[in-house]
Amino acid sequence: MLIIIKGLLLICRLSLVLAAVMSVYKNAKFYPIDIHFMLANISSVNTSNACVCACIMDFMCITVYYNGYAQNCVLFSAELRQGQLNLATTDTNSIVMSFKNKSIQASTVFSTMNKTVYAIWNTTAGSNSLASYSGYEQGNFYPSETPSSVFDNIGNSSYSSYGVCNYSTWDLSCGTNTGFYITFKNAPYLLRAFRICAGHYRASRDPLTITIEGSNLAGAALTLGTSWTLIYNGSTGLTTDPGRSMCGELRTTGNSLWFSSYRLLVTAKRSVDTCVEYSEVNFLA
Ligand SMILES: *[C@@H]1O[C@H](CO)[C@@H](O)[C@H](O)[C@H]1NC(C)=O
Ligand SMILES: *[C@@H]1O[C@H](CO)[C@@H](O)[C@H](O)[C@H]1NC(C)=O
Ligand SMILES: *[C@@H]1O[C@H](CO)[C@@H](O)[C@H](O)[C@H]1NC(C)=O
Ligand SMILES: *[C@@H]1O[C@H](CO)[C@@H](O)[C@H](O)[C@H]1NC(C)=O
Ligand SMILES: *[C@@H]1O[C@H](CO)[C@@H](O)[C@H](O)[C@H]1NC(C)=O
Ligand SMILES: *[C@@H]1O[C@H](CO)[C@@H](O)[C@H](O)[C@H]1NC(C)=O
Ligand SMILES: *[C@@H]1O[C@H](CO)[C@@H](O)[C@H](O)[C@H]1NC(C)=O
Ligand SMILES: *[C@@H]1O[C@H](CO)[C@@H](O)[C@H](O)[C@H]1NC(C)=O
Repeated sequence: MLIIIKGLLLICRLSLVLAAVMSVYKNAKFYPIDIHFMLANISSVNTSNACVCACIMDFMCITVYYNGYAQNCVLFSAELRQGQLNLATTDTNSIVMSFKNKSIQASTVFSTMNKTVYAIWNTTAGSNSLASYSGYEQGNFYPSETPSSVFDNIGNSSYSSYGVCNYSTWDLSCGTNTGFYITFKNAPYLLRAFRICAGHYRASRDPLTITIEGSNLAGAALTLGTSWTLIYNGSTGLTTDPGRSMCGELRTTGNSLWFSSYRLLVTAKRSVDTCVEYSEVNFLA
């Protein structure tokens, strides 16, 4: 079928196959547990099929809520289990549809870039950063577990940073206020979403909350806190332990600013350990 959404001509083939790949709930509404799961709210969509097409076109979309009376179509990156499905008693021309198995067909922003990942520690959002080096002492990262590991697409290689601790001290605070920044060679990007994958060693090392900041400055200016704009402050998507080297939930940033550099800082980890460890960071444009 051909459909027109906001002036965009979309070509979308819908067939009975959808019945097998989507769960459909009539007279229902969907409320995600976190507003960050909402991707778009499109008006003037005249059929539920057109709404499903809009979801197919958005690589991050998993669930849609279509309101036939208002003709608006809301796209979510959440699965049904990441929200609440309510019966719509007063609004009977509404439908919730959710893909059972829609893989994120996204190119990761960093996959084609020539990247240097700068390790940092003793840093909070808005503050100057301190460079972190390989070693076993305070402020170091494990020599075999370097920051570039988070962009190597290898789940069993991690970045492990001790922060105020060292390789033999154990505390809840070990590894917090550490992270990295990275600069794109090419044009700035809009960081729409991200996904973080757990380290290969122990769940106690998983980062639970982070900040992400963006900057369009370059070089030494990137060590200054004033160069950065906060764009995300919240969950890593690893609140529920996905298992070693497995990826957490996709998180959307809600951000609309374009930046050429991004800085990620861990603000809390799951439990007592010597460091914070994660294997991959997928930044999605
Ligand atoms: C989507 O937009 C419509 C109309 O602008 C509004 O009534 C509705 O509450 C919005 N839905 C959500 C989930 O924000
Ligand atoms: C929906 O809108 C399209 C164009 O925007 C139109 O071609 C189509 O006939 C409409 N369908 C219904 C059921 O109103
Ligand atoms: C989900 O889709 C992927 C790729 O299309 C496939 O390999 C996998 O078996 C599917 N999983 C289920 C539970 O259908
Ligand atoms: C990455 O950048 C360095 C220095 O600018 C350059 O020597 C190298 O060839 C680049 N690598 C790729 C894969 O572009
Ligand atoms: C860590 O940062 C604080 C505040 O910016 C600073 O006072 C302290 O000296 C730093 N620690 C080290 C080891 O540099
Ligand atoms: C991030 O959120 C936490 C919890 O809401 C808050 O305490 C903290 O101040 C926020 N950080 C920044 C840099 O805004
Ligand atoms: C690690 O920290 C502990 C406690 O502060 C200290 O006793 C120990 O010497 C440190 N080890 C290294 C290798 O820095
Ligand atoms: C990761 O897995 C590969 C292939 O199984 C193995 O060769 C490599 O040593 C592993 N690396 C780590 C850090 O465990």
